[in-house]
Amino acid sequence: MTTELPAMREDYRSATLDAADLAPTWHEQLLAWIGAAREAGLPDANAMVLATGDEEHRLTTRTVLAKDVDGRGVTFFTNYTSEKSHQIDQTRQVSATFPWIALQRQATVIGTVERLSREDTAAYWRTRPRGSQLGAWASPQSTVVRDRAALDDLLASVTERFSGDDEIPPPPHWGGWLIRPTHVEFWQGRTHRMHDRMRFRRTDRGWVVERLAP
Ligand SMILES: Cc1cc2nc3c(=O)[nH]c(=O)nc-3n(C[C@H](O)[C@H](O)[C@H](O)COP(=O)(O)O)c2cc1C
Repeated sequence: MTTELPAMREDYRSATLDAADLAPTWHEQLLAWIGAAREAGLPDANAMVLATGDEEHRLTTRTVLAKDVDGRGVTFFTNYTSEKSHQIDQTRQVSATFPWIALQRQATVIGTVERLSREDTAAYWRTRPRGSQLGAWASPQSTVVRDRAALDDLLASVTERFSGDDEIPPPPHWGGWLIRPTHVEFWQGRTHRMHDRMRFRRTDRGWVVERLAP
């Protein structure tokens, strides 16, 4: 063990979070914190670490970008044949954490997942730069490839394939997943490790807000 690690800790004093500070809905609150992270100059303020698992309870995590947040849920886009998508197909359950460490904040979303409609996927696809569209066609995400040259060949081949087309259609193996939350927690670091944790929880009668012990 390096000698520095046990001593590495921050004292969190920059802000507080109480029920009265929260927006009326989890999605307005999440958008407010994404906006605050962006205004603070954090890169990829909409990045979330997405956890998925398979039927054997094998868990994996990776970062993805939230591309829509509204009353329905949180949307991200990916390859439907990727490792994460295979796991989502098996369990339909995910958890995702937005780690805004520089603001002494995180938000965590837990919920079930469903495929976004093809119309909604197509609407977002049209906003992607052409290079990103070509990359989505070219990459067999999460599979083993021989080397970098093999990837470059795949990109060259789809670039050639669509060279005469003004518009590139979305690949059938690519699209959005919509997380429909059951729990959304907002965490604000406080001093003495007595952090503020406020959670929106979905019940049969609607959403309730509760405080969790740190
Ligand atoms: C900041 C950041 C943002 C990312 N955004 C996405 C994304 O929106 N969609 C995606 O498929 N992969 C994204 N990735 C790549 C994923 O973390 C991951 O490598 C990829 O999706 C394959 O994951 P899987 O093999 O677990 O399915 C991002 C990575 C980083 C670091």
